[in-house]
Amino acid sequence: QKTISILMIVIIFSTLFTGCGNIKANTALKNDVITIKIGHVLAPTHPYQLGLEKFAQLVSQKTNGKVKVEIFHSSQLGNERDMVEGLQIGVLESTLVSTAPLSSFTKKFYVFDLPFIFKDIKSARQIVDGPIGQELLKSLENQGVIGLCYFENGFRNITNSKKPINTPEDLKGMKIRTMENPVHMASFRAMGASPTPMAFGELFTALQQGTIDGQENPLPVIDTSKFYEVQKYLSFTEHFYAPAPLLISKLFFEKLSPEIQKAIKESALEARDYERQLLDDMNSKLEKDLAERGMKINKPDKAPFIDAVQSVYKQYEKVITPELIQRAIDAQ
Ligand code: PAF
Repeated sequence: QKTISILMIVIIFSTLFTGCGNIKANTALKNDVITIKIGHVLAPTHPYQLGLEKFAQLVSQKTNGKVKVEIFHSSQLGNERDMVEGLQIGVLESTLVSTAPLSSFTKKFYVFDLPFIFKDIKSARQIVDGPIGQELLKSLENQGVIGLCYFENGFRNITNSKKPINTPEDLKGMKIRTMENPVHMASFRAMGASPTPMAFGELFTALQQGTIDGQENPLPVIDTSKFYEVQKYLSFTEHFYAPAPLLISKLFFEKLSPEIQKAIKESALEARDYERQLLDDMNSKLEKDLAERGMKINKPDKAPFIDAVQSVYKQYEKVITPELIQRAIDAQ
């Protein structure tokens, strides 16, 4: 089945882009412009896109126009898993994703998915940028993917069409879409909900048609994907932090000159800081904006939610390792 799905990806990408031999062409013609196609699943107004536009501009500047970055938003190149597989086999150069599709490479990525593990945004950034985050990115390399750095999606909050979520009891029986991530699903189960995994591209329609009651995402996603049109309640639970690794195909990257590799790495770090600043700016005004767009917002006490998910730490301790969990806690 895996072979068939890889073959299908090859066919889709070859059909979509006549430049399927892009990588070969890129490196063969030394004086030609090298093109990096980057895909992501979010809207063109989300900081993912704006951060990538900054990346494109910096790469072009630092390589004197030798490298051009083309960005494809809104799942145009497929869902996150398809794109990561595209990097592995060299039919796509780069992608910006959540950590969900990376856990099939190393389950240690689950450490970032543990509910309420990060004290605040400052600690979260420190940990993903520090030794733990860098070790995890490094571990992708033997699977054909290079992690340049972590952009960010932010702290996730619950929206739904039924009622405000004040305690875990309010989630009882509610169908909440989660990412295809077992730690996220276990956490929602532990809080009493009925987790329904689904690719992001299908989410808006599922909310609109009422096949699910709610979902969870950071405020900039709720805003830029217009979930306020189909969800009435927004509860600030901030239960998971979502880093967003910027990835590049190893097959592609290793064919570039050291100067170009350096320019790409430096541009990624500068664009990461820019994207995080955009998120901070957006987050500081979105509570008001989303209320104006009709959402009913509440800020529940987090303590009963934290109590409810303690079993998830025990459940995932074996795959993440108790040492890694403790390191992440101690580093804050
Ligand atoms: O909900 C999701 O699936 C993620 O937050 C998203 C939108 C794919 C960002 O990486």
